[in-house]
Amino acid sequence: MSRAETVDVAIIGAGAAGMMCAWEAGKRGRRVVVIDHARAPGEKIRISGGGRCNFTNLGTTPKNYLSANPSFAISALKRYTPQDFIGLVDRHGIAWHEKTLGQLFCDGSARQIVDMLTGGLRAAGADLRLTTAVNAVERSADGFLLATSAGPLACRSLVIASGGKSIPKMGATGFGYEIAGKFGLKLQPTRPGLVPLTLEPGLLERLAPLAGVAVPARVRHGKTSFEEAMLFTHRGLSGPAILQMSSYWHEGEEIEIAMAPGTDVFARLRAVKGANGRQAPATALAEIVPKRLAQLIAEREAGGRNLADLSDKMLQKIDAAVNGWRLKPTGSEGYRTAEVTLGGVDTDDLDSRTLQARTVPGLYFIGEVVDVTGWLGGYNFQWAWASGWVAGQTA
Ligand code: FDA
Repeated sequence: MSRAETVDVAIIGAGAAGMMCAWEAGKRGRRVVVIDHARAPGEKIRISGGGRCNFTNLGTTPKNYLSANPSFAISALKRYTPQDFIGLVDRHGIAWHEKTLGQLFCDGSARQIVDMLTGGLRAAGADLRLTTAVNAVERSADGFLLATSAGPLACRSLVIASGGKSIPKMGATGFGYEIAGKFGLKLQPTRPGLVPLTLEPGLLERLAPLAGVAVPARVRHGKTSFEEAMLFTHRGLSGPAILQMSSYWHEGEEIEIAMAPGTDVFARLRAVKGANGRQAPATALAEIVPKRLAQLIAEREAGGRNLADLSDKMLQKIDAAVNGWRLKPTGSEGYRTAEVTLGGVDTDDLDSRTLQARTVPGLYFIGEVVDVTGWLGGYNFQWAWASGWVAGQTA
């Protein structure tokens, strides 16, 4: 066998976390190689945020993340903050703006973030190797030995930054979970997160006229609630409020939706009834929710009657249909459209200050492959930057 090329750090995955780690480790003078089977680095960054990359959130706190151990992310998020990443973006002359709820986007294109990272890691001496597969990983006397499609590679530190299972069409694999399993690390069960929810066929048929309608909504599940936009689709429900809730929801569970949060629909309808009893309920309701939704609810709850013909009880039923809609989604659209993967490498088996495996010195897991999953709104990239940066200080 030919002698293996030897480097200090091999990073598998040229996504957000892997490139940040490579840049930092390179700056420390480590000889770094980043391997990715894809043809281009940072593909998820490129398509993120509608092509503008929601690269961080000003309000990032550990509370914006789901994990079996909610405290795990505290250390990395404290050491590398949204302000640190904003500083980096500013130094590279990338213009940005706050869209809503602390979410920061590029003014121009997400490609600027990819270019900043590839430029940064290369300037730090790291080597980016694309269209390269990793066929095997073994422990060696002083590190790890990889069998890659470009030949054997020996490294002292091995960083797994291969992301989650979301969007298999873009090269997502279960690679990181397999490596974790091979080296004896525990896994938290994985499932799609930040994903549209699907509805049973009967309900879907009834809601068909609403496909494409968006409403500001409050979606509640147990003690968790999100107030953002919700979108009716041909498959079920989507929009930020639903995506956020999907990470908390499990099959068989109920969610409750208010489509005019903060509005006393009963009182509003009663007032209109008092002033103009001949008005159709759909007309009055269309002042509160989108017209198509108003029509559907009014038709179901009031038939062809005027407001004057509706008792308080009936008005209350309309109120409940708008602001207390309880339903059980049948499932989610799955990894095909999920923005993230929940679960992953169990944080019990990682050191929160370094992201290094407790029982396998030199082996690191960063980014989405770890059981730390952010809300929608730039939190997932902030975790990728923070965990990548932290591992880059010691790998
Ligand atoms: P990431 O998935 O970025 O990178 C993993 C890399 O590993 C990939 O390049 C892949 O090709 C490579 N790889 C996988 N298996 C491999 C193997 N076996 N061998 C070699 N290479 C392998 N988040 C956010 O904060 N703001 C946003 O605006 C968005 N928007 C968004 C839109 C869409 C459509 C999606 C799907 C996701 C988002 N996200 C997001 C989530 C965000 O993209 C995600 O959390 C990060 O990209 C995770 O970064 P990682 O570096 O961990 O994985």
